Amino acid sequence: MSVSDLPVPFIPNARDAVRALRPSQIREVANAGFGVSDVLPFWFGESDRVTPAFIREAASAALAGGATFYTHNLGIAPLRAALAGYVTGLHGATSADHIAVTSAGVNALMLASQLVVGAGDRVVAVTPLWPNLVEIPKILGAHVETVALNYGEHGWQLDIERLLAALTPDTRMLLINSPNNPTGWVMSRDEQRTVLAHCRLHGIWIVADEVYERLYYADAEAGAEGSSARTAPSFLDLAGRDERVICVNSFSKAWLMTGWRLGWIVAPAGLMDDLGKLVEYNTSCAPSFVQQAGIAAVQQGERYTQELVRDLKTSRDHLVRALSELPGVDVKAPPGAMYLFFSMPGAEHSLDLCKAMVREVGLGIAPGSAFGPQGEGFVRWCYACDTARLDAGVERLKRYLAQYGTVW
Ligand SMILES: Cc1ncc(COP(=O)(O)O)c(C=O)c1O
Repeated sequence: MSVSDLPVPFIPNARDAVRALRPSQIREVANAGFGVSDVLPFWFGESDRVTPAFIREAASAALAGGATFYTHNLGIAPLRAALAGYVTGLHGATSADHIAVTSAGVNALMLASQLVVGAGDRVVAVTPLWPNLVEIPKILGAHVETVALNYGEHGWQLDIERLLAALTPDTRMLLINSPNNPTGWVMSRDEQRTVLAHCRLHGIWIVADEVYERLYYADAEAGAEGSSARTAPSFLDLAGRDERVICVNSFSKAWLMTGWRLGWIVAPAGLMDDLGKLVEYNTSCAPSFVQQAGIAAVQQGERYTQELVRDLKTSRDHLVRALSELPGVDVKAPPGAMYLFFSMPGAEHSLDLCKAMVREVGLGIAPGSAFGPQGEGFVRWCYACDTARLDAGVERLKRYLAQYGTVW
Protein backbone atom coordinates (compact mmCIF):
# COMPACT_ATOMS: atom_id res chain seq x y z
CA MET A 1 0.00 0.00 0.00
CA SER A 2 1.41 3.42 -0.91
CA VAL A 3 0.91 6.65 1.11
CA SER A 4 -1.50 7.98 -1.55
CA ASP A 5 -3.87 5.05 -0.85
CA LEU A 6 -4.20 5.96 2.83
CA PRO A 7 -7.25 7.82 4.16
CA VAL A 8 -6.22 11.40 5.09
CA PRO A 9 -6.14 10.90 8.90
CA PHE A 10 -3.61 8.09 8.45
CA ILE A 11 -1.08 9.90 6.23
CA PRO A 12 2.10 9.87 8.31
CA ASN A 13 2.58 13.62 8.82
CA ALA A 14 4.12 15.38 11.79
CA ARG A 15 1.85 17.68 13.87
CA ASP A 16 0.77 20.88 12.11
CA ALA A 17 2.83 23.02 14.50
CA VAL A 18 5.95 21.06 13.57
CA ARG A 19 5.27 21.08 9.84
CA ALA A 20 4.84 24.86 10.01
CA LEU A 21 8.34 25.41 11.48
CA ARG A 22 10.68 27.37 9.22
CA PRO A 23 13.58 25.35 7.81
CA SER A 24 17.04 26.84 8.28
CA GLN A 25 17.96 29.29 5.53
CA ILE A 26 21.62 29.09 6.53
CA ARG A 27 21.46 25.39 5.74
CA GLU A 28 19.85 26.28 2.39
CA VAL A 29 22.81 28.53 1.56
CA ALA A 30 25.27 25.83 2.66
CA ASN A 31 23.48 23.36 0.37
CA ALA A 32 23.87 25.80 -2.54
CA GLY A 33 27.63 25.51 -1.95
CA PHE A 34 27.77 21.71 -2.28
CA GLY A 35 30.12 20.92 -5.13
CA VAL A 36 32.02 24.22 -4.70
CA SER A 37 35.46 22.93 -3.74
CA ASP A 38 36.77 25.94 -1.84
CA VAL A 39 34.18 27.65 0.39
CA LEU A 40 35.21 30.12 3.11
CA PRO A 41 32.39 29.74 5.64
CA PHE A 42 31.47 32.64 7.94
CA TRP A 43 27.84 31.56 8.27
CA PHE A 44 27.76 29.61 11.54
CA GLY A 45 28.02 31.12 15.00
CA GLU A 46 31.27 29.60 16.09
CA SER A 47 34.97 30.31 16.15
CA ASP A 48 37.43 28.43 13.95
CA ARG A 49 39.55 27.79 17.07
CA VAL A 50 39.47 24.53 18.97
CA THR A 51 38.40 24.49 22.66
CA PRO A 52 41.30 25.48 24.97
CA ALA A 53 43.62 22.58 25.86
CA PHE A 54 43.02 22.77 29.63
CA ILE A 55 39.31 22.06 29.09
CA ARG A 56 39.94 19.19 26.67
CA GLU A 57 42.44 17.72 29.14
CA ALA A 58 39.90 17.94 31.97
CA ALA A 59 37.41 15.99 29.84
CA SER A 60 40.04 13.35 28.99
CA ALA A 61 40.95 12.98 32.66
CA ALA A 62 37.28 12.67 33.60
CA LEU A 63 36.77 9.96 31.00
CA ALA A 64 39.90 8.13 32.10
CA GLY A 65 38.56 8.33 35.66
CA GLY A 66 35.30 6.65 34.62
CA ALA A 67 32.87 9.61 34.44
CA THR A 68 30.58 7.69 32.12
CA PHE A 69 27.39 7.43 34.18
CA TYR A 70 24.09 9.33 34.42
CA THR A 71 24.19 12.29 36.76
CA HIS A 72 21.59 14.22 38.77
CA ASN A 73 19.03 15.80 36.40
CA LEU A 74 20.11 19.31 37.41
CA GLY A 75 23.82 18.61 37.04
CA ILE A 76 26.67 17.43 39.28
CA ALA A 77 26.93 19.36 42.54
CA PRO A 78 30.51 20.65 41.96
CA LEU A 79 29.53 22.16 38.61
CA ARG A 80 26.37 23.77 40.02
CA ALA A 81 28.50 25.20 42.85
CA ALA A 82 31.17 26.44 40.40
CA LEU A 83 28.50 28.10 38.26
CA ALA A 84 26.90 29.68 41.33
CA GLY A 85 30.30 31.20 42.16
CA TYR A 86 30.80 32.39 38.57
CA VAL A 87 27.34 33.99 38.33
CA THR A 88 27.79 35.56 41.78
CA GLY A 89 31.07 37.11 40.61
CA LEU A 90 29.43 38.65 37.56
CA HIS A 91 25.91 39.47 38.74
CA GLY A 92 25.60 39.23 42.53
CA ALA A 93 24.65 36.60 45.07
CA THR A 94 23.38 33.40 43.44
CA SER A 95 23.21 30.00 45.14
CA ALA A 96 23.49 26.57 43.54
CA ASP A 97 19.74 26.10 44.23
CA HIS A 98 19.12 28.56 41.42
CA ILE A 99 21.31 26.78 38.86
CA ALA A 100 20.42 23.92 36.51
CA VAL A 101 22.95 22.41 34.11
CA THR A 102 21.61 21.80 30.59
CA SER A 103 22.73 20.28 27.31
CA ALA A 104 23.83 23.70 25.97
CA GLY A 105 21.88 26.86 25.31
CA VAL A 106 19.39 25.53 22.81
CA ASN A 107 18.24 22.82 25.24
CA ALA A 108 18.06 25.46 27.99
CA LEU A 109 15.77 27.53 25.75
CA MET A 110 13.55 24.53 25.12
CA LEU A 111 13.38 23.72 28.85
CA ALA A 112 12.58 27.34 29.75
CA SER A 113 9.76 27.40 27.21
CA GLN A 114 8.42 24.04 28.34
CA LEU A 115 8.40 25.34 31.91
CA VAL A 116 6.23 28.36 31.23
CA VAL A 117 4.37 28.24 27.92
CA GLY A 118 1.74 25.94 26.48
CA ALA A 119 -0.60 25.77 23.51
CA GLY A 120 -2.29 29.08 22.72
CA ASP A 121 -0.06 31.19 25.00
CA ARG A 122 1.11 34.58 23.76
CA VAL A 123 4.88 35.05 23.53
CA VAL A 124 6.67 38.25 22.50
CA ALA A 125 10.16 38.21 20.99
CA VAL A 126 12.45 41.07 20.00
CA THR A 127 13.77 40.50 16.46
CA PRO A 128 15.80 40.05 14.23
CA LEU A 129 16.67 36.95 16.18
CA TRP A 130 18.43 33.61 15.95
CA PRO A 131 15.53 31.48 14.63
CA ASN A 132 15.56 28.84 17.37
CA LEU A 133 14.21 31.31 19.94
CA VAL A 134 11.13 32.05 17.86
CA GLU A 135 10.51 28.49 16.64
CA ILE A 136 10.84 26.69 20.01
CA PRO A 137 7.65 28.15 21.58
CA LYS A 138 5.83 27.38 18.33
CA ILE A 139 6.67 23.67 18.76
CA LEU A 140 4.69 23.93 22.00
CA GLY A 141 1.76 25.55 20.19
CA ALA A 142 2.34 29.10 21.45
CA HIS A 143 1.76 32.23 19.30
CA VAL A 144 4.84 34.37 18.87
CA GLU A 145 4.48 38.11 18.25
CA THR A 146 7.59 40.00 17.23
CA VAL A 147 8.81 43.52 17.97
CA ALA A 148 11.51 44.61 15.55
CA LEU A 149 14.61 46.59 16.44
CA ASN A 150 15.11 49.67 14.26
CA TYR A 151 18.24 50.26 12.20
CA GLY A 152 19.53 53.80 11.96
CA GLU A 153 22.50 56.10 12.26
CA HIS A 154 23.49 54.60 15.63
CA GLY A 155 23.03 50.99 14.60
CA TRP A 156 20.27 48.78 16.01
CA GLN A 157 17.97 50.35 18.60
CA LEU A 158 14.96 49.19 20.59
CA ASP A 159 11.77 51.23 20.49
CA ILE A 160 10.94 50.64 24.14
CA GLU A 161 7.42 52.08 23.89
CA ARG A 162 6.57 49.64 21.11
CA LEU A 163 7.89 46.74 23.16
CA LEU A 164 5.88 47.78 26.24
CA ALA A 165 2.74 48.15 24.11
CA ALA A 166 3.25 44.59 22.80
CA LEU A 167 3.67 43.26 26.35
CA THR A 168 -0.06 43.14 27.05
CA PRO A 169 -1.35 41.67 30.33
CA ASP A 170 -2.28 38.43 28.54
CA THR A 171 1.34 37.88 27.42
CA ARG A 172 2.89 34.85 29.03
CA MET A 173 6.55 35.24 28.14
CA LEU A 174 9.02 37.76 26.74
CA LEU A 175 12.00 36.32 24.87
CA ILE A 176 14.93 38.64 24.72
CA ASN A 177 18.43 37.94 23.48
CA SER A 178 21.12 40.46 24.41
CA PRO A 179 23.87 40.68 23.19
CA ASN A 180 21.88 39.79 20.13
CA ASN A 181 22.42 37.30 17.36
CA PRO A 182 22.43 38.47 14.55
CA THR A 183 22.64 42.25 15.09
CA GLY A 184 25.12 42.58 17.99
CA TRP A 185 22.62 44.92 19.68
CA VAL A 186 22.96 45.12 23.48
CA MET A 187 20.03 46.09 25.68
CA SER A 188 20.91 48.94 28.03
CA ARG A 189 20.52 48.70 31.78
CA ASP A 190 17.78 51.36 31.69
CA GLU A 191 15.84 49.43 29.06
CA GLN A 192 16.14 46.29 31.16
CA ARG A 193 14.92 48.16 34.24
CA THR A 194 11.87 49.50 32.37
CA VAL A 195 10.98 46.13 30.86
CA LEU A 196 11.45 44.32 34.18
CA ALA A 197 9.12 46.78 35.96
CA HIS A 198 6.47 46.33 33.26
CA CYS A 199 6.72 42.53 33.32
CA ARG A 200 6.52 42.50 37.12
CA LEU A 201 3.33 44.53 36.91
CA HIS A 202 1.64 42.08 34.54
CA GLY A 203 3.22 38.83 35.75
CA ILE A 204 5.01 38.22 32.44
CA TRP A 205 7.90 35.77 32.46
CA ILE A 206 11.18 37.05 31.07
CA VAL A 207 13.36 34.45 29.38
CA ALA A 208 16.67 36.20 28.79
CA ASP A 209 19.09 34.51 26.40
CA GLU A 210 22.44 35.80 27.61
CA VAL A 211 24.74 33.30 25.90
CA TYR A 212 26.83 36.17 24.46
CA GLU A 213 27.05 38.16 27.70
CA ARG A 214 30.85 37.85 27.82
CA LEU A 215 31.29 38.92 24.19
CA TYR A 216 30.81 42.57 25.03
CA TYR A 217 33.05 45.38 23.81
CA ALA A 218 31.55 48.55 25.27
CA ASP A 219 33.62 48.46 28.45
CA ALA A 220 33.17 52.14 29.22
CA GLU A 221 29.38 51.89 29.21
CA ALA A 222 29.38 48.93 31.57
CA GLY A 223 31.88 50.66 33.85
CA ALA A 224 29.72 53.76 33.99
CA GLU A 225 26.86 51.65 35.28
CA GLY A 226 29.05 50.60 38.16
CA SER A 227 28.96 46.91 37.29
CA SER A 228 31.67 44.62 36.07
CA ALA A 229 32.99 45.51 32.62
CA ARG A 230 33.49 41.80 32.03
CA THR A 231 29.90 41.29 30.96
CA ALA A 232 27.02 42.97 29.15
CA PRO A 233 24.13 44.30 31.29
CA SER A 234 22.10 41.33 32.50
CA PHE A 235 18.62 40.91 33.92
CA LEU A 236 20.40 39.09 36.75
CA ASP A 237 21.91 42.43 37.84
CA LEU A 238 18.42 43.81 38.48
CA ALA A 239 16.04 40.95 39.27
CA GLY A 240 15.77 38.94 42.47
CA ARG A 241 16.59 35.28 41.98
CA ASP A 242 13.04 34.17 42.80
CA GLU A 243 11.26 36.45 40.35
CA ARG A 244 9.72 35.42 37.05
CA VAL A 245 13.05 35.68 35.27
CA ILE A 246 14.88 32.76 33.66
CA CYS A 247 18.37 33.38 32.28
CA VAL A 248 19.80 31.00 29.72
CA ASN A 249 23.53 30.63 29.23
CA SER A 250 26.03 28.37 27.50
CA PHE A 251 29.63 27.20 27.46
CA SER A 252 29.62 27.43 23.66
CA LYS A 253 30.68 31.04 23.18
CA ALA A 254 32.84 32.20 26.13
CA TRP A 255 34.91 28.99 26.20
CA LEU A 256 34.57 27.89 22.56
CA MET A 257 32.72 24.67 23.46
CA THR A 258 30.04 24.54 20.75
CA GLY A 259 30.40 20.81 20.08
CA TRP A 260 30.29 19.84 23.76
CA ARG A 261 26.63 20.77 24.34
CA LEU A 262 26.84 22.25 27.81
CA GLY A 263 24.91 25.20 29.24
CA TRP A 264 22.95 26.34 32.26
CA ILE A 265 19.85 28.09 33.49
CA VAL A 266 19.51 30.55 36.37
CA ALA A 267 15.91 30.36 37.62
CA PRO A 268 13.81 30.61 40.78
CA ALA A 269 14.65 27.84 43.26
CA GLY A 270 10.95 26.94 43.38
CA LEU A 271 11.08 25.90 39.72
CA MET A 272 13.91 23.42 40.13
CA ASP A 273 11.85 20.32 40.96
CA ASP A 274 9.72 20.83 37.85
CA LEU A 275 12.76 21.73 35.79
CA GLY A 276 14.43 18.49 36.93
CA LYS A 277 11.40 16.55 35.65
CA LEU A 278 11.65 18.27 32.28
CA VAL A 279 15.38 17.54 32.06
CA GLU A 280 14.59 13.89 32.86
CA TYR A 281 12.15 13.65 29.95
CA ASN A 282 14.31 15.60 27.48
CA THR A 283 17.89 14.43 27.99
CA SER A 284 18.00 13.08 31.60
CA CYS A 285 21.27 14.94 32.18
CA ALA A 286 24.21 16.56 30.41
CA PRO A 287 27.05 14.08 29.72
CA SER A 288 29.00 13.36 32.88
CA PHE A 289 32.58 13.93 31.61
CA VAL A 290 31.47 17.09 29.78
CA GLN A 291 30.16 18.47 33.07
CA GLN A 292 33.56 17.76 34.68
CA ALA A 293 35.23 19.72 31.89
CA GLY A 294 32.77 22.53 32.56
CA ILE A 295 34.16 22.89 36.08
CA ALA A 296 37.64 23.47 34.62
CA ALA A 297 36.24 26.04 32.17
CA VAL A 298 34.45 28.03 34.86
CA GLN A 299 37.24 27.86 37.45
CA GLN A 300 40.31 28.29 35.24
CA GLY A 301 38.97 29.96 32.11
CA GLU A 302 38.73 33.62 33.02
CA ARG A 303 42.05 34.69 31.53
CA TYR A 304 41.29 32.72 28.40
CA THR A 305 37.85 34.31 27.98
CA GLN A 306 39.27 37.80 28.40
CA GLU A 307 41.92 37.11 25.76
CA LEU A 308 39.26 35.72 23.44
CA VAL A 309 37.17 38.88 23.81
CA ARG A 310 40.21 41.05 23.02
CA ASP A 311 40.89 38.99 19.88
CA LEU A 312 37.25 39.16 18.83
CA LYS A 313 37.26 42.94 19.20
CA THR A 314 40.36 43.13 16.98
CA SER A 315 38.65 40.94 14.37
CA ARG A 316 35.44 42.98 14.58
CA ASP A 317 37.24 46.28 14.05
CA HIS A 318 39.36 44.85 11.24
CA LEU A 319 36.33 43.56 9.35
CA VAL A 320 34.34 46.76 9.88
CA ARG A 321 37.24 48.77 8.41
CA ALA A 322 37.60 46.48 5.42
CA LEU A 323 33.88 46.30 4.63
CA SER A 324 33.39 50.06 5.06
CA GLU A 325 35.65 50.63 2.07
CA LEU A 326 33.41 48.65 -0.29
CA PRO A 327 30.90 50.54 -2.41
CA GLY A 328 27.28 50.14 -1.30
CA VAL A 329 28.17 48.44 2.00
CA ASP A 330 26.72 50.01 5.17
CA VAL A 331 28.30 48.50 8.27
CA LYS A 332 28.63 49.58 11.92
CA ALA A 333 30.60 48.05 14.80
CA PRO A 334 28.04 46.61 17.24
CA PRO A 335 28.77 46.46 20.98
CA GLY A 336 28.30 42.71 21.45
CA ALA A 337 28.24 39.10 20.15
CA MET A 338 30.45 38.06 17.20
CA TYR A 339 28.63 39.09 14.05
CA LEU A 340 28.39 42.00 11.65
CA PHE A 341 24.87 42.43 10.32
CA PHE A 342 25.17 44.80 7.40
CA SER A 343 23.54 45.87 4.16
CA MET A 344 25.12 45.57 0.72
CA PRO A 345 23.98 45.64 -2.92
CA GLY A 346 21.49 42.82 -3.52
CA ALA A 347 20.73 42.23 0.18
CA GLU A 348 17.05 43.07 -0.33
CA HIS A 349 16.91 39.45 -1.61
CA SER A 350 19.40 38.17 0.94
CA LEU A 351 18.78 34.43 0.48
CA ASP A 352 19.33 34.62 -3.30
CA LEU A 353 22.32 36.86 -2.76
CA CYS A 354 24.00 34.51 -0.27
CA LYS A 355 23.38 31.48 -2.49
CA ALA A 356 24.92 33.35 -5.43
CA MET A 357 27.96 34.41 -3.38
CA VAL A 358 28.72 30.88 -2.26
CA ARG A 359 28.22 29.49 -5.76
CA GLU A 360 30.15 32.16 -7.66
CA VAL A 361 33.04 33.08 -5.34
CA GLY A 362 32.92 30.54 -2.47
CA LEU A 363 32.01 33.14 0.18
CA GLY A 364 29.73 31.69 2.87
CA ILE A 365 27.70 34.26 4.79
CA ALA A 366 24.20 34.04 6.26
CA PRO A 367 21.15 35.77 4.75
CA GLY A 368 19.40 38.33 6.97
CA SER A 369 16.06 36.72 6.21
CA ALA A 370 17.21 33.63 8.16
CA PHE A 371 16.61 35.76 11.27
CA GLY A 372 13.01 36.61 10.43
CA PRO A 373 11.41 38.98 7.94
CA GLN A 374 12.82 41.95 9.86
CA GLY A 375 16.32 40.77 8.94
CA GLU A 376 15.71 41.05 5.20
CA GLY A 377 17.97 43.63 3.58
CA PHE A 378 21.02 42.49 5.59
CA VAL A 379 23.57 39.71 5.70
CA ARG A 380 25.40 38.26 8.73
CA TRP A 381 29.11 37.62 8.87
CA CYS A 382 30.61 35.79 11.89
CA TYR A 383 34.01 37.36 12.51
CA ALA A 384 35.29 34.82 15.09
CA CYS A 385 38.52 34.02 13.24
CA ASP A 386 41.87 35.63 12.55
CA THR A 387 42.24 38.71 10.38
CA ALA A 388 44.00 36.87 7.51
CA ARG A 389 40.94 34.69 7.02
CA LEU A 390 38.69 37.75 7.17
CA ASP A 391 40.85 39.42 4.51
CA ALA A 392 40.51 36.37 2.26
CA GLY A 393 36.72 36.62 2.67
CA VAL A 394 36.71 40.34 1.88
CA GLU A 395 38.71 39.68 -1.30
CA ARG A 396 36.00 37.26 -2.41
CA LEU A 397 33.29 39.78 -1.61
CA LYS A 398 35.14 42.39 -3.68
CA ARG A 399 35.39 39.94 -6.55
CA TYR A 400 31.68 39.20 -6.30
CA LEU A 401 30.72 42.87 -6.23
CA ALA A 402 32.98 43.66 -9.18
CA GLN A 403 31.49 40.84 -11.27
CA TYR A 404 27.88 40.65 -10.18
CA GLY A 405 27.24 43.64 -7.91
CA THR A 406 25.25 45.59 -10.44
CA VAL A 407 22.90 42.88 -11.66
CA TRP A 408 20.70 43.11 -8.55
C1 LIG B 1 21.22 33.68 20.57
C2 LIG B 1 21.66 32.28 20.77
N1 LIG B 1 21.16 31.60 21.81
C3 LIG B 1 21.51 30.34 22.05
C4 LIG B 1 22.41 29.70 21.25
C5 LIG B 1 22.69 28.30 21.59
O1 LIG B 1 23.96 27.87 21.55
P1 LIG B 1 24.34 26.47 22.17
O2 LIG B 1 23.17 25.58 22.03
O3 LIG B 1 25.53 26.02 21.40
O4 LIG B 1 24.66 26.75 23.60
C6 LIG B 1 22.95 30.36 20.14
C7 LIG B 1 23.87 29.68 19.22
O5 LIG B 1 24.35 30.21 18.24
C8 LIG B 1 22.56 31.69 19.90
O6 LIG B 1 23.04 32.39 18.87
